[in-house]
Amino acid sequence: MSSQPKVYVTRPDVDDSGLELLRKSCQVSTWHETNPVPRSELIREVAGKDALYCALTDKVDKEVLDSAGPQLKCVATISVGYDHIDVEECRKRGIRVGFTPDVLTDATAELTLALLLATNRRLFEANKQVYNGGWKSWAPMWMCGQGLKGSRVGLLGFGRIGQEIAARIVPFKPTEITYTTRSLRTKEAAAVNARHVDFDEMLRESDFIVVCCALTPETKEIFNAAAFQKMKPNCILINTARGGVVDQKALYEALKTKRILAAGLDVTTPEPLPLDDPLLKLDNVVILPHIGSADIETRKEMSRITARNILAALAGDKMEAEVKL
Ligand code: GLV
Repeated sequence: MSSQPKVYVTRPDVDDSGLELLRKSCQVSTWHETNPVPRSELIREVAGKDALYCALTDKVDKEVLDSAGPQLKCVATISVGYDHIDVEECRKRGIRVGFTPDVLTDATAELTLALLLATNRRLFEANKQVYNGGWKSWAPMWMCGQGLKGSRVGLLGFGRIGQEIAARIVPFKPTEITYTTRSLRTKEAAAVNARHVDFDEMLRESDFIVVCCALTPETKEIFNAAAFQKMKPNCILINTARGGVVDQKALYEALKTKRILAAGLDVTTPEPLPLDDPLLKLDNVVILPHIGSADIETRKEMSRITARNILAALAGDKMEAEVKL
């Protein structure tokens, strides 16, 4: 019997450079299909493991941790978000939790800008016209959108990703960037000339709202029917954080009734969005399949960081990125 620590990896398709790092000193087993591991399989396979390498599609809760057993030392996710992990339960059991912040900040900020511009300038809607015969001739008011220049942009969340989004919006010359967070980020805000506002003011004043906060009990469905009622009719909502921040039924109503102008979503509830979801029938929403950090080099490094987090935790060393429990 090998005395090497045992690691279960919930995906076979994470970049191999991360798995190679683990294989040097661990016994590594992986789920074998390129879709999320079924829960029953995860519960079975995690039993007796020393570390779990997981993704945001894997719910790591009490049941999974119970099945793993008391020797489990680390849960490392290949994501910056860790709302899929019961961190309180990990804390109680002394299980360390690793994640991958920083490395994906630029990729996610870039994708957020791409989605914002695709939404406000109606790129996908316009592109369809090229193929379906809707493009008859140049027309002065056809496919017009709402530019960023002279607009008020509100950011819900102003962590690493929010700050990089703000920096990328500045060259588009908005009138003002505002941010809503629990605590002031005075120094970081000064760098992009952003003003702290409360959530209500953000809702009432913004032409664009970009969601870049974590999903927590506080932010869960914070964009509900009441919030949409307060927003300006020309407001465009962009969400690259988590689908759970938005009450999706309320968003659908707000978009359908033109309560708000448009939305760009890289995240939805559920994921993938069923093909018969009513949101898919609307023209004023752009939906992407959760590709915020999907930049090749970023994803490779995320795989290595997740592996290094596990190796550090197994050795009792400082992890590269550890969730404070
Ligand atoms: C992506 O959503 C992540 O949390 O990394």
